[in-house]
Amino acid sequence: MKKRVGIEALAVAVPRRYVDIEDLARARGVDPAKFTAGLGAKEMAVNDPGEDSVSLAATAAARLIQQQGVDTSKLGMLVVGTETGVDHSKPIASHVHGLLKLPRGMRTFDSQHACYGGTAGLMAAVEWIASGAAAGRSALVVCTDIARYGLKTAGEPTQGGGAVALLVSETPDLLAVDVGLNGVSTADVYDFWRPVGRREALVDGHYSITCYLDAMAGAYRGWRERAMEQGLVRWDSKLPSEQLSRILYHVPFCKMARKAHAQVRLCDLEDSGSGPATPEARDEAAKSQASYDAQVAKSLGLNARVGNVYTASLYLALAGQLHAEGAALAGQRIGLLSYGSGSCAEFYSGVVGEKAAERMARADLDTVLAKRERVSIEEYERLMNLPYDAPEAIAPEPGTFRLAEIHEFRRKYAGA
Ligand code: HMG
Repeated sequence: MKKRVGIEALAVAVPRRYVDIEDLARARGVDPAKFTAGLGAKEMAVNDPGEDSVSLAATAAARLIQQQGVDTSKLGMLVVGTETGVDHSKPIASHVHGLLKLPRGMRTFDSQHACYGGTAGLMAAVEWIASGAAAGRSALVVCTDIARYGLKTAGEPTQGGGAVALLVSETPDLLAVDVGLNGVSTADVYDFWRPVGRREALVDGHYSITCYLDAMAGAYRGWRERAMEQGLVRWDSKLPSEQLSRILYHVPFCKMARKAHAQVRLCDLEDSGSGPATPEARDEAAKSQASYDAQVAKSLGLNARVGNVYTASLYLALAGQLHAEGAALAGQRIGLLSYGSGSCAEFYSGVVGEKAAERMARADLDTVLAKRERVSIEEYERLMNLPYDAPEAIAPEPGTFRLAEIHEFRRKYAGA
C-alpha cells in the first residue's frame, strides 16, 4: 500500500452573483440577527440556469488544471460527487470529461449520496491510489451542487451553490489522508430528500440537525477507536478531539459547525471516564467557545459567503481553512467530518502538507470571490423563477463554462 496519498491541490468555482443575507432577512420580515448570529451566514450564492452543476464542475476542474499546471495525461479517474444530477443516466463526469478534453483512458462516474457523495468519491480515489491499482496515475474529484429549497421556505437562507475540484495523488501537498482510519455511520432516515423531477429539496429541518449530530457521533467514535489503536490520539489531559489541530465539518450553514464541534467534544467527555460529573456540566464543557475559536472558526470564511454547497461544503471549509492558515498548519493533523442526509457520515483525518500555502496561493480564492456581483432580492427572485431549461444568453467569463441551451434533452455548453 502507498504510504502518502491525498489531496494535492484544489480549485473553487462559485456563481457570479450573490445576495447579502441581511437583505434577504429584511425582505422576509425576519430579524437579520437570526440569519447572521443564528445561522452564521453573511452572503448566499445565487446561480442562474446557465450556471448549472455541470458548468460549475467544469469551471472548477478547468481552473484546477490551469492554476496548478496539471498534466492531464497522468489522470486515470474522474469522479463527480453531486446531488444535483442533470440526467438519470448520463453522468456529469462525462460532460466534464468532454468539456475539458481529458484522455479517453479514464474511469468516469458520478457519486450520489446527498452531501456525502463528494467524500465517497474522494475515498474511492484515495483508496484506488493507495492500493497501487492507479499505477502512478492521479484522480480528479469534483464536488458540485446547487442548494435550492425555494422562496420563503425555512431553508431559504441556507441555499447556495458552487463546486470544488480536488486533485488526488501520491503528492498530497494539501492533505495526506490517514488511509484506513475512517469512521462511518449510516442510517435509513428521511431528513432531507429531493424526489426525482423536483428542483427544490424537501427537508425536515430540525430533525435533519438531529440526524447529522447522531450520525457524526458514530463516525467520530469509529475514527477515534482506530486513531487510538495507531497511537495518533490518546486519553490524556487533552481530549482526543483536542489533539487534532483543526476539525472541519460539513457546513449546511455555519452555526451547524459549532453544533457539530460541541457534539464531537461531548462524545469525548462522555467516554473519558473522568471530567464533568453531571450531564449539564458536560454540555457546558462541550460548548467551549475557546475550543471552537481555536479548532473550527477559521475554516468558515468561505462557507459564510457562499452558503450550502452540499457535496462541496466540507471541501469549501478545507479551502477556507488552508487559505487562512495553510503555512501555520503545515505538518499538523486535522480532522474532517462529512455528512450526507439519508444518511451517511464519515470522519477522517490527514496531515497538512508543507506546500499547502503555496498551492492555495495559486487557487487565488480572494479573486474568485471578489469577482462576484451583489444582487437585490428582486433580482434573486427573478433568477430563482427562471425555468431550468432556458438559460439566459450571457457570454461566459474567460476560463468558465455556461449552459448554452438544452435541445431535445441534450445539453450544450459554451466557454473556457
Ligand atoms: P428555523 O426553524 O427557521 O430557525 O430553521 P430556528 O428557529 O431553528 O433558528 C435558527 C437559529 O437562529 C437558532 O439557533 C435560533 O435560536 C437562532 P440555535 O438554537 O439552533 O443555536 N435565532 C436567533 N439568533 C439571534 N437573533 C435572533 C434569532 N432568532 C432565532 N433574532 C433550519 C433553521 C436550519 C432548520 C432551516 O434553515 C432549514 O431547514 N435548513 C435546511 C436544512 C439544513 O440545513 N439542515 C442541516 C443538517 S442536515 C445537512 O447538513 C444535510 C444537508 O446539507 C443536505 C445533504 O446532505 O444533502 C442539508
